[in-house]
Formats: sequence, C-alpha cells, structure tokens
Amino acid sequence: PRKIIIDTDPGQDDAVAILLALASPDDLEVLGITAVAGNVPLELTARNARMVCELAGRTDIAVYAGCDRPLGRDLVTAEHVHGKTGLDGPDLPPPAMPLQKAHAVDFIIDTLRSEPEGTVTLCPLGPLTNIAMAFEKAPDIVPRVAEIVLMGGAYFEVGNITPAAEFNIYVDPQAARIVFKSGAPLVVMPLDVTHKALVTAPRNEAFRALGTPVGVAVAQMTDFFERFDKEKYGSVGAPLHDPCVTAYLIRPDLFTGRHVNVEIETQSDLTMGMTVADWWGVSGRAPNAMFMGDIDATGFFTLLTERLARL
Ligand code: BDR
Ligand code: CA
Repeated sequence: PRKIIIDTDPGQDDAVAILLALASPDDLEVLGITAVAGNVPLELTARNARMVCELAGRTDIAVYAGCDRPLGRDLVTAEHVHGKTGLDGPDLPPPAMPLQKAHAVDFIIDTLRSEPEGTVTLCPLGPLTNIAMAFEKAPDIVPRVAEIVLMGGAYFEVGNITPAAEFNIYVDPQAARIVFKSGAPLVVMPLDVTHKALVTAPRNEAFRALGTPVGVAVAQMTDFFERFDKEKYGSVGAPLHDPCVTAYLIRPDLFTGRHVNVEIETQSDLTMGMTVADWWGVSGRAPNAMFMGDIDATGFFTLLTERLARL
C-alpha cells in the first residue's frame, strides 16, 4: 500500500475522505492524520478527526494538531457550510482517543525524514498551512515527498468563498504559494472536478442502505452538507470535494486533467487566493501541477460505497 499523511480540517467531506482511506488498507497505509485550522478552528478539527477515526473503529491512528492560523493573515472559517461543529449532521460521541503530543508540523518533518525517500504521499484536504510550515522549517524534506495530492483551487468554476477563490487556497494563500512553488510533484483536485462529485438522492440512499454506523453517518453528513451548494449553485446534492483526493490515490483512472503551470495570487484584494492555472499554455511558465478537470462520477460513487461498506 501507498503510505500517506492526511492533512485535514474536518469538515463532512474531509470525514468521508478519511473514511475512504481507512476503508482501503490494501491500497493506502495512513501513517497519521494532521489537523489544521480551516472549516472550523483547530480545536474542533483536531476533535473531529478523532471522532471520524473512532467511527471507523480505528483508534490506532495517530492524530496530531498543527497550525491554528494561516501564515500571514487571520483565519477565515466556513461554519456557513459545515455547521458550528464543522461536522454537523450525525450525532457522534466526543472522542475518547488521545491527541498526540507532537506538533503536526514536526510529525510531517520526522516522517518524511525517517521513511525511505519518495515513499510518502501528502494529502492536504484543507488550507496548506501545515505543509508550508514543514517545508519552510525543513527544506530537506521537499525532495523526499513522493507526491502531494490536494483538494484546492478552481479554474472554470472560479470561486466558492470569493468570486475568484476556492476556500482552501483563499484561507492561506501564502502557504499555497510555498507549496505550489516547492517543486514537489502536485496533483490538484479543483472545484471543476469536485462540483461533479455530487451526492444525488439515490447515492445518499445507497450510503444509508449500508445500514452500518458509517453508512448512516455519511448519509447524515451529506444531508447536512448539501444545503450550501443547493442554495448557491442549484446543485442536486453535496459535492464530495475532499474524497476526490483519496479516490484518486486508489483509482487514478477515474480522473483526467492537464499538467500545467499553476500560480497563486497573494497580492490582490479582489482575487486573493486565486489559482491561476495556465490551462491553454499561454504563459511559457513551466508546468508544476497535474490540474484535474473531470471525474467519472459513477465510478467514484461505486468505489466509495463499496469501500464504506467494509467499515
Ligand atoms: C474545500 O473547502 C472546505 O470547506 C471543504 O472541506 C473542502 O476541502 C472546498 O472548497
Ligand atoms: Ca476540507
């Protein structure tokens, strides 16, 4: 199995991404989960990450708390999407498993240094603060990263937190800039892909019909999480942004995209956090990211439902 670190700000869609990874031990070995401030403050994301591990019956997973605010600006949160707790919907018990003592950034650095070079994949599902901090603190780890597969940004779909920017990149554009300029191989799941991974009523029913605590909780999460996108985009259901990352690691053939240059806007008030993707190759700048554009949504939901059934 591929070794991964999941860096996350749960978030209902983060939770589903984590569950998919934990349901797939033959494909993915989760070395640890690092929490970051994003959808809700750090205290809640670190708590939610542990609640999700417990829901999956995986109290053995090490969960670390990381940065509680972006590198150079105040934290922007998304309770309007995810609810007060960040994980509104199901009624999950508070976590009993401990939070690790080490800081998430140190865990990322130590793991990349101790595992063989090129064997650890980073999976950021929230603002890129922890990853950028680790790269700044220990530049020697950058060439040791196998790949970074992240959810963030947008091209044709433009923005969901401002007219121009996607939430994860907008919250910490400085961090995103560091990661996109790092030279580590990048695979990006932007809104263009994730707005096609929609939980329609029959797909939600398939989760619920699993009849397991996990299946029912996922159905309740997506019931709650769909409100924002239904109102804003006239979506037929909740977009499963972050699970696109873990699905890609298991079934890359479900996604298509282009290897292009992507730069992050960090100066402009109007377009702060915009992912300027050179889709048509007009800039002459060297490609630095595999920027995905499409998903086989039927294949994705078949995979997800089949894997969640294993938990
Ligand atoms: C991203 O922002 C968060 O609200 C979601 O969890 C996802 O990671 C989508 O823009
Ligand atoms: Ca997220």
